[in-house]
Amino acid sequence: MAKEIRTIGVMTSGGDSPGMNAAIRAVARACAYYNVKCIGFYRGFQGMIEGDHCILNARSVRNIISRGGTILKSARSKDFRTPEGRKKAAEHLKEIDVDAMILIGGDGTFRGGQIFSEEYDIPVIGVPGTIDNDIAGTNYTIGYDTALNTVIDAIDKIRDTASSHDRLFFIEVMGRDSGFIALNTGVGAGAEEILIPEEDMGLDRLLESLKRSKRSGKSSSIVVVSEGDKIGKNVFELADYVTENLPDYDVRVTVLGHVQRGGSPTCFDRTLASRLCVKAVELLLDGEKNVMVGLLNNEVKMMSFEEGLKEDHGVNKELLRISDILST
Ligand code: F6P
Repeated sequence: MAKEIRTIGVMTSGGDSPGMNAAIRAVARACAYYNVKCIGFYRGFQGMIEGDHCILNARSVRNIISRGGTILKSARSKDFRTPEGRKKAAEHLKEIDVDAMILIGGDGTFRGGQIFSEEYDIPVIGVPGTIDNDIAGTNYTIGYDTALNTVIDAIDKIRDTASSHDRLFFIEVMGRDSGFIALNTGVGAGAEEILIPEEDMGLDRLLESLKRSKRSGKSSSIVVVSEGDKIGKNVFELADYVTENLPDYDVRVTVLGHVQRGGSPTCFDRTLASRLCVKAVELLLDGEKNVMVGLLNNEVKMMSFEEGLKEDHGVNKELLRISDILST
């Protein structure tokens, strides 16, 4: 029989994302509802290793649902990659009677959780929180929707100045090795071209497309470039290359950077975080362990970490075709 769960730990790890606070709140409130003690660990796995924690009751998470960032702070712990680090973490959990952990983060967090759960008999549940949306086991990760809206807002503003000065802007967005943010904001902001890691467009096609844009009477253009794009040049080299080959264009570069990770979460991200985290607590109380939760076809599902971390996270390439048609 599964061990009774009396205390649940929660932490946020990896790059922070808007909605992580809503997730922490949902874990703490669901624990209070089910009469389970909740402990928050600071700086992800590092706080587990160092025993840096706090008690989270229903009131300690008041008014955080709307706040960006994470009150528990976040980190990418190098120590947790070592067996010694994980041993220390397990010992600290034991010392303060933590029976199970909820890990909010991205693929690195889930991989850490997977190894930890294989080594120690401490149930863990992964909740996907990253702006990158690069986890196969969920249609949406917490923070992705807010990041999309932040990016769209920025591109709209850049479009204003691009249009006033008849300029071509290369706008780099985050996403690590995946093109979800670039693809969706590119279509949403009406970009002339979108460069994503999943599709190598090639430099010749890019030049051709920009020439076509000019010929069709467009005076300004936006190219959204995912930071992980594999065209062979970074965004600044790309801008130089285009300037050399198409001197008619007045080219500028904007790297949006970490602005994409901040800000108050959208309603979608708050609701997603709330749904996933209530489910995570309930699964632990039902004796489930070592799985992740995700939203698939608007239903909260659980699946193994292997399943949830499959290589193919299915960026929708149909959007490239749509973009081609609409940027005519
Ligand atoms: O995974 C989230 C993310 O923002 C990626 O999009 C980006 O590549 C990376 O984190 C940046 O990490 P850091 O905050 O360590 O610079």
